[in-house]
Amino acid sequence: MCGIVGYIGSKDLGAVILVGLEKLEYRGYDSAGIAVIHNGRLVVKKRSGRIGDLYKLVNGMAFNGKAGIGHTRWATHGGVNDINAHPHVDCKSQIAVSHNGIIENFQELKLELEKSGHKFVSETDSEVIPHLIEEYYEGSLFDAVLKAVKRLQGSFALVILSSMEPDRIIGVKMGSPLIIGVGKDEMLLSSDQMPLLSHTKDVVVLNDGEICVLTQNSWSVYDFDGNPKQKYITKIDWTVDMAEKGEFSHFMLKEIFEQPEVLRRNLEYYIRGNEVTLLKDFNLRRLLLNKDRILIQASGTSMHAGLVGKYLLEKLARIQTDVDYSSEFRYREPVLGQNTLVIAISQSGETADTLAGVKLVKENGFEVLSIVNVKDSSIARESDYVLYINAGPEIGVASTKAYTAQILILFLLSLEVGLLRGFVSEEDFSRMRDELFELPGKINDVLCESGYVKEVATRFLDAKHFVFLGRGINYPTALEGALKLKEVSYVHATGYAAGEMKHGPLALVDKDLPVVFVNPKTSVYEKSLNNIEEVRARGGIIISVASSGDLKMEMLSDYVFKMPEVNELLTPLVSIIPLQLFAYNVAVGRGCDVDRPRNLAKSVTVE
Ligand code: F6R
Repeated sequence: MCGIVGYIGSKDLGAVILVGLEKLEYRGYDSAGIAVIHNGRLVVKKRSGRIGDLYKLVNGMAFNGKAGIGHTRWATHGGVNDINAHPHVDCKSQIAVSHNGIIENFQELKLELEKSGHKFVSETDSEVIPHLIEEYYEGSLFDAVLKAVKRLQGSFALVILSSMEPDRIIGVKMGSPLIIGVGKDEMLLSSDQMPLLSHTKDVVVLNDGEICVLTQNSWSVYDFDGNPKQKYITKIDWTVDMAEKGEFSHFMLKEIFEQPEVLRRNLEYYIRGNEVTLLKDFNLRRLLLNKDRILIQASGTSMHAGLVGKYLLEKLARIQTDVDYSSEFRYREPVLGQNTLVIAISQSGETADTLAGVKLVKENGFEVLSIVNVKDSSIARESDYVLYINAGPEIGVASTKAYTAQILILFLLSLEVGLLRGFVSEEDFSRMRDELFELPGKINDVLCESGYVKEVATRFLDAKHFVFLGRGINYPTALEGALKLKEVSYVHATGYAAGEMKHGPLALVDKDLPVVFVNPKTSVYEKSLNNIEEVRARGGIIISVASSGDLKMEMLSDYVFKMPEVNELLTPLVSIIPLQLFAYNVAVGRGCDVDRPRNLAKSVTVE
């Protein structure tokens, strides 16, 4: 987590870095700081709190240097306070470092440096880095950084600035992301594309084990032995306004409402006439056709999309599919083999556990297909094949549009493999293709009911617990609905398979417990009705997601979020929409910081 940024150029230093940090704030937001060159010296301004607090501290100061760095923090080592905020500096305050990641051997390095007389002020792991560079400095910042990084264990992306060499900034990548923005008379470094968008579309994505040196008009990349590396400029295809809230009060709401457009974009991109073109890469097509087992590994919401994928791949493509949390997968010696294809799903493409899962599969000699949103992200680059979900920047910490886009890609993949393997007929394919193109309109219909969802949400602002239940392909919807609610509104919510209620959780039900049933018309619809009766009989309050015109559900429920009838396999793409809106409205009603929930960060780049 944490966001780091660096700038060298002639624009207003403080403003460029602060605006850059704002764009990265979703990566971590408990403290922030900048270090800039002013009158030939390093000036560091940092404090706990949001970027807004840092603005107050900087108070529009004009800095006359050309280079600066910044950091927005999500604490790992050391509490949240002004001293632990980055950038950290060496003993003489001549070298400043912003760090994203974890230095695993920091205790040992700290002891060693203290013995040589270095004085530490913070409790962070990161502070060892400027001291180590100071220790090795003999007239060349680059040489000192080369020596220092060889001593560091763990994952790190660094942006380094020194008043001794104020005409450059240095970046280092090992495990955490770092991108160079190549501008006209200016160069930037950033954890992701967002702060670069308003300056340039030209970027150079660094790989692990690379160091870059930026001056106002040049960039160069080296390996950790100092050998130059040939790198190429690529173009960002996101635009500035894609990363703005526009008329919406929160990114989360904007992203919920963007879903019809994201789905339409993907359908138009991946479906050409009578064909799905996801597997146009011949090798990927061959790979998928030769496997009889798929193992999906992902985290959080992406893992829930993977669970929906299990139903789709098994139903349409008839391939046995298992789904695992990446944090479990990577540590339990999973059974891999020639017949198993591992799929990694990640919005950010940077989640540490998912990335480690990808590396584990590769180390075992097998190939990985990933389903990712952020182009050129670490997971995309480590994987053999990538399918992009084309959702545009997702900035709200709670994932919404990426979830439905991931499910759509899994649906298209299942459909294409099913067709190629002969489990889906041409007729079924044409019918499903037509149904797919109707989806954006149907999701719009649900979004039009957002006023009612808000009204219902307002009645539950004081509820202490929620249970979300679903069956079959909507069991993951229940898990995802519960996750959305708890992460943005801080209300406890648990998601469960509806049929499992009587095996334990039914004991929770009393007249104060709201139970959210996801029960659109599907093959397990009738079964869920029984589960609803069981809850009703015990006095629980029933909120449901049901197909429009379903009178039975209306009679059984206290509140109903209606959705148009869709093919069973497409229901998760629609049934989640009212639950996203519900979570959003409960959170807003409770005064929570919807886009930046406490203790969370968008990209979980630490274990
Ligand atoms: C929840 C949420 C997280 C992410 C998880 C994985 O709303 O956003 O649970 O889904 O951290 O992130 P990615 O998909 O970037 O790997």
